[in-house]
Amino acid sequence: MARTWFITGTSSGFGRGLTEQLLARGDRVAATLRRPEALDDLRAAHGERLWVARLDVTDAEQVRGVVDEAFAALGTIDVVVNNAGFGIIASVEEATDEQIRQVIDTNLLGSIHVIRAALPHLRAQGHGHILQVSSAGGQTAYPSFGYYHASKWGIEGFCETVAREIEPFGIGLTIVEPGATPTGFGSALTTSAAMPEYDRTPAGEIRRAVENGTFQLANDPAKITRAMIDLIESGDTPLRLPLGADTYNHVRASLVARLAEHDAHRDAALSVVRDDVTVASTTA
Ligand SMILES: NC(=O)c1ccc[n+]([C@@H]2O[C@H](COP(=O)([O-])OP(=O)(O)OC[C@H]3O[C@@H](n4cnc5c(N)ncnc54)[C@H](OP(=O)(O)O)[C@@H]3O)[C@@H](O)[C@H]2O)c1
Repeated sequence: MARTWFITGTSSGFGRGLTEQLLARGDRVAATLRRPEALDDLRAAHGERLWVARLDVTDAEQVRGVVDEAFAALGTIDVVVNNAGFGIIASVEEATDEQIRQVIDTNLLGSIHVIRAALPHLRAQGHGHILQVSSAGGQTAYPSFGYYHASKWGIEGFCETVAREIEPFGIGLTIVEPGATPTGFGSALTTSAAMPEYDRTPAGEIRRAVENGTFQLANDPAKITRAMIDLIESGDTPLRLPLGADTYNHVRASLVARLAEHDAHRDAALSVVRDDVTVASTTA
């Protein structure tokens, strides 16, 4: 069945790959990006099935305008993909205020703007699915990625709420969590001046591994975008979709460790309940 998709950040990487695969299979795409000319080749090849608009997701007013225009032009939009984003590699002390603002404005607030703009339309049409591109870094954490994690953990928490709020309207949401993948992500990574104090610490080691290319990018970008399409095609849409052996293994290890630590503090948790309250039985 042919569908209509709205996608942010389609100039490169997953956004561009997804757009190409969808057009090749006969779907319609509302592709948004900061540099519309980057899709001139696809526009020439696919004509009216590709609707293109300039969009910087950090501009909330522009987001509302473009989302409204897309629904008006295309009638129905079945899938909204919040894909635009970038990474920053810097320890907590090394990043500048402007770098912190930009990554939160883009990855967290930008995604929130798109969801808020799309929801009235999705409710009105009575169906639709949101694919929120997060990351393995939305459930795990590494030194030197603190601000990226803040943006991705933040959007995952927000999306858990959104998913519960929109389910009664027949609208779904899936958080997609790719692992490390060769896209434009590496070259778009923001860095800051390194502080020598962090050189021989885990933060410095991870920064060096990323900068000298020894950080493995083991996933296939075309397989990741294919998995997003297959997910929608299957109709079996979980809240989270881990993509990549690195995502699967690292998130699993992180969840197991968190659960063990959580359970180890059961007595402390229960110790602060008021004496006149009876606690429901706990599972640990
Ligand atoms: N590649 C990975 O290893 C990896 C792993 C996990 C998650 N992700 C996530 O996957 C998503 C896509 O990244 P990618 O790997 O495909 O990297 P990419 O090739 O660099 O693509 C990122 C896209 O986001 C766009 N973008 C950045 N800031 C924007 C803004 N303010 N407004 C609109 N568009 C903006 C970029 O547009 P410009 O060309 O204008 O800069 C580009 O089209 C991101 O959310 C990223 O966090 C990537």
